[in-house]
Amino acid sequence: MLDLDVVRARFPALASGFVFFDNAGGSQTLGSVADRVRDYLVTNNVQLGASYAVSRASTERVEAGVAAAAALVGASPGEVVLGSSSTQLLHNLALAMHGELRAGDEVVITSADHEANRGPWRRLAERGVVVKEWALDRDSLRLEARGLEPLLGPKTKLVAFTHVSNLLGSIHDVPALTRLAHEAGAKVVVDGVAFAPHRRVDVRALGVDYYVLSLYKVYGPHVGLLYGKREHLERLGNLNHDFLAEEVPYKLQPGNVNFELTASLGAIVEYMDSLGGLERAFADIAAHEEALSARLLAYLTQKPGVTVHGDPTPARGRRVPTFAFTVAGREPEAIVRAVDPKGIGVRHGDFYARPLARALGCGPGGVVRASAVHYNTLAEVDRLVDALDEAIDRAR
Ligand SMILES: Cc1ncc(COP(=O)(O)O)c(C=O)c1O
Repeated sequence: MLDLDVVRARFPALASGFVFFDNAGGSQTLGSVADRVRDYLVTNNVQLGASYAVSRASTERVEAGVAAAAALVGASPGEVVLGSSSTQLLHNLALAMHGELRAGDEVVITSADHEANRGPWRRLAERGVVVKEWALDRDSLRLEARGLEPLLGPKTKLVAFTHVSNLLGSIHDVPALTRLAHEAGAKVVVDGVAFAPHRRVDVRALGVDYYVLSLYKVYGPHVGLLYGKREHLERLGNLNHDFLAEEVPYKLQPGNVNFELTASLGAIVEYMDSLGGLERAFADIAAHEEALSARLLAYLTQKPGVTVHGDPTPARGRRVPTFAFTVAGREPEAIVRAVDPKGIGVRHGDFYARPLARALGCGPGGVVRASAVHYNTLAEVDRLVDALDEAIDRAR
């Protein structure tokens, strides 16, 4: 079981009493991460790679941060590319794949993804690549194998899909879907941004070719992480200086990584170690999140006029605690603005998953999204429920 007092004490922002339920937009940051960023800047802010003592120490700290990032996803340091965001890394990946994707080749994207894992692949159409769209299953509101199968063929080179929808919170069966794509000879690139804050990422167990996540949603700083199988990274084109063409992952990190933020990444892993290690920590996180989900869903699913989009069950194997809902006759923005004065952060919109919001039948205001992580408490869920209840009833 998570000790919530111990957990919450690690996040200085929580001491303000503000209730954060926009965690899918960005989690709060560990105090230990912030301390490392500051410490790097005030003691080690020199160029890496020189022989003098301070530079040697800086190099070590940044390398340790990369190793920690790799450990967090079960990869080795040479398989991890860091950048400013997942969006940037996926655009860079698409650019670096120009040499292996030719006119007539096919890529599959989904209607459930954040645009970060759609736009870079859609743009390949300008080069003659055929872009097909895998639609969310209308009944299950998930990405199902039966939706993918008819899109696969000998020309399919890549399938880009999401591990968890950032609107619906539903967890997709990445290993099975990946196997299906592999059987057709295609690679997969999986968006793990909405999964990684909630469950352990193990890229080898998932079997993926590429996997991306945003560490500012995993209790860390604003850094994006792209995992790629080493042999794939070696084949990718060079985005850096000509003479760095053989340097993996440096050839994919033009301008290099952000030193102070990278140096702080070990603090995320150390935090998970303090909770019993990655396996145990994420198992306890999943159990606590299920309790949070059950409490919020108990309210949302019985409140007249409220539609919860996606899975209405709290089961930890099926969803993370990210909830999208709409209220009959009420603009999502009006609900959110009525909650704002209560010192609770929720948000409305399509969250850049526009085709999905459209498929759900949402108007331009999108959905109301409330997203929890493990540092949220049941008492906070109760505060949110009271605030929502008032906001919804006021409209009637
Ligand atoms: C599911 C998902 N994918 C991708 C992104 C983009 O991440 P980044 O802000 O690191 O570019 C987000 C951001 O909210 C997201 O929720």
